[in-house]
Amino acid sequence: MALTLEVALNDACTQILDTSTLVRVVLSGRRRNMQTEFERIDIRPVEIRGAVHLQLSHNDGRATTVKNLVPNRDEIIDLLSSGYANILVEHTQGSMSIRVSKNGDAHVYFEKKSLEQSLSHDKKKTRLLDPADPFLLEVGIADHKGAIKASKQDKYMQVEEFLRLLAPTLNAAIEAGQIHKPTDAHPLSIVDLGCGHAYLTFAAHQYLRSIGIPVNVTGIDVRTASRDRNNVIAQNLGITSTINFRAEEIATTTAQHADVAIALHACDTATDDAIAWAVTSGAKLLLIAPCCHHDIQSQMDTSPEPWGALTKFGLMKERLGDLLTDSLRVQILRIAGYRVEVIEFIGGEHTPRNLMIRAVKSDASPEAIDKQRYRQICTQWGITPALESKLPALFIG
Ligand SMILES: C[S@@+](CC[C@H](N)C(=O)[O-])C[C@H]1O[C@@H](n2cnc3c(N)ncnc32)[C@H](O)[C@@H]1O
Repeated sequence: MALTLEVALNDACTQILDTSTLVRVVLSGRRRNMQTEFERIDIRPVEIRGAVHLQLSHNDGRATTVKNLVPNRDEIIDLLSSGYANILVEHTQGSMSIRVSKNGDAHVYFEKKSLEQSLSHDKKKTRLLDPADPFLLEVGIADHKGAIKASKQDKYMQVEEFLRLLAPTLNAAIEAGQIHKPTDAHPLSIVDLGCGHAYLTFAAHQYLRSIGIPVNVTGIDVRTASRDRNNVIAQNLGITSTINFRAEEIATTTAQHADVAIALHACDTATDDAIAWAVTSGAKLLLIAPCCHHDIQSQMDTSPEPWGALTKFGLMKERLGDLLTDSLRVQILRIAGYRVEVIEFIGGEHTPRNLMIRAVKSDASPEAIDKQRYRQICTQWGITPALESKLPALFIG
């Protein structure tokens, strides 16, 4: 539904101030030409000495900072207007999500569902995955009592937080007409590239079905053992008609198409293979959390000055290499016509690899500055990103 931004933010504010029904709020992404103070802010109501406050928390990759506010319309409106592109407000009867487009229009999506409110001060996040879902046991995340195994806590959290971003982004893309409305006859197609033990693959399948989105999911991994194990799990769960696994290299996969391409920690240039496959097969939405970065690191033999000031320290050279790699991936996606955001999808305590590239195919033509910046960075550093050679058509002319 298209509303003016002012009306949409006012509606959201009214829902947030109704602390008798508010469950949580998530502010993420960045509006065009605006800077936000934090990557993401989570807000929830908490009861402190008998009065309901709004608890704001954000994470800088190392620690979570929390602040409690007395609910106040002016402060909430200021916060909602401060540059976030995605605003999700959940209350006990459903949710409202706002996506602010490049032009500053508000695309608003409402969903009816029953959610529980908790005002407890140390409330844990609402879990998206049903703890009783047998897939958690089958994939080895949970034990027979349904408890998450200690050794799988971090992976479980990564998967939950990945899904927490997938659902609103997907709903916004469906609402904006970028992805067709999934039906049983024409389900949403998702390909998980470098799926490994398929924790995320099964989780996406189960979670999206649980919120009423018909899906068809494919997991790709080069290892035949992963394919065989995952297909057996799918059989045990009785879901082989909507999920399947292939033992293939991403670069040469037989998978033809996906509405949504996801990749969680596909190693090094397998992330580039995943992005290249998604772009060439016309995926509308990409959620890519890269892993180790060796491709650009290994090409950074000499640094253009004055960057020698950083690269003489190994640790900083490595971090700069990571940033260059992902920045250039983002530029390539922009050149390919995607609207791209870079976000932290989870706190750094669960994985140091917590950056996510979220890209939505847009009808807008790429801007000349993107190609110029891309070429300048590559020329200055004397590097050729692996992704460029996988998408040569983008660089003709
Ligand atoms: C670090 S694991 C991540 C697995 C899973 N996505 C997760 O988060 O649990 C990376 C996976 O990518 C797979 N992989 C690496 N390079 C690949 C390639 N070129 N094609 C297909 N799979 C690849 C590996 O076999 C491995 O299972």
